[in-house]
Amino acid sequence: MSTHINAKEGQIAKTVLLPGDPLRAKFIAENFLEDPICYNQVRGMFGYTGKYQGKDISIQATGMGQPSISIYVTELIKDYNAETLIRIGTCGSVSDKINLKDVIIAQGACSDSALLNQRFGSMHFCPVASYPLIKKADEVASLMNLNYHIGLVATSDLFYDINSNYKLWSRYGVLAIEMECCELFTLAAAYNKKALGILTVSDDILTGKETSAMEREQSFTAMMELALKTAINFS
Ligand code: HPA
Repeated sequence: MSTHINAKEGQIAKTVLLPGDPLRAKFIAENFLEDPICYNQVRGMFGYTGKYQGKDISIQATGMGQPSISIYVTELIKDYNAETLIRIGTCGSVSDKINLKDVIIAQGACSDSALLNQRFGSMHFCPVASYPLIKKADEVASLMNLNYHIGLVATSDLFYDINSNYKLWSRYGVLAIEMECCELFTLAAAYNKKALGILTVSDDILTGKETSAMEREQSFTAMMELALKTAINFS
């Protein structure tokens, strides 16, 4: 048991997928895993463990934003010995080369958050994903014939970007904005673990276009398969 997760020792797999939304965690467990067991309901932040193609996988919801994912990932690593952590979620694109529903494999994450300053002060740190995970996700996405891109994302604390920070990031080649990868990659670095972010483009920040609920569902399913097929190589 940890402060925010009430699983027993051994109930959480070494490889954990991390959706923000608890109902997504439930949906994935019930539709993609064999014999799923719900190990956490504290604060409604569902966590499940089951099998995918014979391998143990856990799905733990993280909530939205870096302070929330920070709590769950820290406890998964320190209290439950998680080794491989893959965020799955949505993002808003800030590149005109990217279409709605495309998949983004996050290679690294910039941020406007004070969290990095708390750790590094006036120094700078470059939070990056694990190369073996990027490589495997690249192979799997290619085999699945997905429209996908590998590159930088920016992790913002503000969903409603009142200062249009996205424009500067876009100018420097950032592909999309989301809200969790930076802290995930930083924690993985701090504890010598492997992390990746796999995201579908739910909205285009440059044009204001958004996916429909049906499109989000379909692209989410493709991303899930990509994440699971990547994850089983590390479990
Ligand atoms: N900003 C931040 N996170 C997001 C967005 C966005 O526009 N879209 C999906 N996740």
